[in-house]
Amino acid sequence: MSKVQGRLRIAVQKSGRLAERSLDLIRNAGLRVIKGNNDLLYKVENAPVDLLRVRDDDIPTFVADGVCDLGIVGENVLEEARNGGPLAEVVMPLGFGRCTLKIAAPESLPWDGPASLNGLRLATSYPRILGRWLAENGVEAGVITMRGAVEVAPRLKLASAICDLVSTGATLEANGLVPLDTVFESQAVLIRSPQPVEEALESLLENLITRIGGVVASQD
Ligand code: PRP
Ligand code: ZN
Ligand code: MG
Repeated sequence: MSKVQGRLRIAVQKSGRLAERSLDLIRNAGLRVIKGNNDLLYKVENAPVDLLRVRDDDIPTFVADGVCDLGIVGENVLEEARNGGPLAEVVMPLGFGRCTLKIAAPESLPWDGPASLNGLRLATSYPRILGRWLAENGVEAGVITMRGAVEVAPRLKLASAICDLVSTGATLEANGLVPLDTVFESQAVLIRSPQPVEEALESLLENLITRIGGVVASQD
């Protein structure tokens, strides 16, 4: 997807836990967002800015590659996408979308700390973050990657435990799972591309970041 000359692009989650708050933040920063004729692209009336509405998992690479200049994404997604070096620069934490990546398992699993996972298999959508945590804790466990429905893995005997995002805890509870340990704490962050923006848009970009910062500060 090539960029339109003369317009900034912000990548936001199309639907999911960050979608609504991301739009609110952009609106509160003074941008009048209007729906375009397709669902993927929202336009801003009062500035040359487009919102690209995509899956959260695609946001880090879009911003890293310069397809989008800014993005709003969970630290969990950003961290999982990072493979070695940094992908995109984190401009600021945004104070919403807080959730925690946790180890959870059926109550019947004996738990005496991370070592209890030795020799077991875990299901997760975050194999890199989990793999690092297991290594840091000296645990040797199998990891099965699932794109979704991770919480059903123990019931299907696909895994003994899971590593998944917990926000209210309702999903764990509904599936008879108890949280056991914290792997990663996350919230939404504003990220910017390492690729330079065209000169005519530089001041708009800086101005926008300043205004977003103002909105976030006022919500503390
Ligand atoms: C996460 C996680 C659980 C749910 C937990 O999914 O996978 O399904 O949130 O939230 P709760 O503790 O409030 O019940 P999410 O919707 O973030 O992303 P996904 O669609 O990529 O699984
Ligand atoms: Zn996702
Ligand atoms: Mg889910």
